Amino acid sequence: MFNLTIDLPEAPYPIVIQNNVIKEMGQKILPFIQRKKVVIITDKNVYAAYGEALIQNIEKSGFQVHLILLYPGENSKSLGVLECIYKELLSYNMTKSDLLIAFGGGVIGDLTGFAAATFLRGVPFIQIPTSLIAQVDSSIGGKTAVNLKEGKNLVGSFYHPKAVFIDPQLLQSLSPRFFSDGMAEVIKYGCIKDSELFLKLEKLDKDQLMLHIDEIVFRCCEIKKRVVEEDEKDENTRMLLNFGHTFGHGVEKVFNYKKYTHGEGVAIGMYHITKKSEEMGYTQMGTSNRIKALLTKLNLPSQLPDIDETQLLEALSPDKKTRGDDIHLILLRSIGDSFIHPIAKRDLKDFF
Ligand SMILES: NC(=O)c1ccc[n+]([C@@H]2O[C@H](COP(=O)([O-])OP(=O)(O)OC[C@H]3O[C@@H](n4cnc5c(N)ncnc54)[C@H](O)[C@@H]3O)[C@@H](O)[C@H]2O)c1
Repeated sequence: MFNLTIDLPEAPYPIVIQNNVIKEMGQKILPFIQRKKVVIITDKNVYAAYGEALIQNIEKSGFQVHLILLYPGENSKSLGVLECIYKELLSYNMTKSDLLIAFGGGVIGDLTGFAAATFLRGVPFIQIPTSLIAQVDSSIGGKTAVNLKEGKNLVGSFYHPKAVFIDPQLLQSLSPRFFSDGMAEVIKYGCIKDSELFLKLEKLDKDQLMLHIDEIVFRCCEIKKRVVEEDEKDENTRMLLNFGHTFGHGVEKVFNYKKYTHGEGVAIGMYHITKKSEEMGYTQMGTSNRIKALLTKLNLPSQLPDIDETQLLEALSPDKKTRGDDIHLILLRSIGDSFIHPIAKRDLKDFF
């Protein structure tokens, strides 16, 4: 079991990483709720695997539980679904003294977080992340959002949960593709801030990962905690978390989010940008080969697919990493040591 606190001045909150913690949720939520009403938002996959057990456990502690069950996948992160959630919350007479629970992957976490931020101008919520991406990344740091048809995460806010409860054992039922997807973010943490974590991943066999998963999740959460505490609103060091993402988002977008998952895009992005920065003398030689070998071991792609260059550059430009006329690329000096490299948007083509 590992405990962390996100130490933000206005609202510090705990992160508990504990195998089988979902079997204790009835007790664990007690400090975060004033009345007896709990609304759980989840998707059908997560509900099928763990929904009944979670609800029974919370009801056993005397809470009245309402369930909002959504279709799995990115399409649920929409304004239309958000409106349905508001209506359901109204029908349950949800108040600021009740508690909303996000029980699922990053889609459920981002959507529930945004619903919590905006319903009645803010109701309390907690995160119980169930996918690897959600456990190591999206449940921590307060970014909430929905998508528009024009792009992903275009409407959102910073709104932190009251607590995050992470049960690494839930990852047992995650599909191999989504597990690898999350491993891309884990590798990213090693690349930007933790050479020991990277080394550990290099040494472990793929089948040994689950045996060490609680410690791996903890190390990632610990890095995210430090970065978020230093730069909550994503104006400076938090941008380091975007290593591989500028390029990755571009690749995802060119293929209309159909061919590559987020983690696969990031994997390609991490390798490609490091290979370039190595050629330009910013990065220790051999770094990109280490990244590529680890990605390959964990079933992640590294090679840039056959894409029209103009199309890719266009896909990169409205990225959130652009500020004014600059784009902030994240580069490595070596594994575990990253820095922000601002370049003018017009120089992007030359860089790549
Ligand atoms: N807020 C942030 O800081 C942040 C950071 C990274 C990603 N994100 C967002 O996260 C989303 C991607 O997250 P994701 O990959 O978790 O997507 P997701 O929520 O769609 O989950 C992926 C799939 O895994 C299934 N699943 C989840 N947990 C499971 C479990 N334990 N067992 C079996 N199946 C399970 C889900 O039903 C879904 O089909 C994107 O919308 C992205 O924008 C947000």
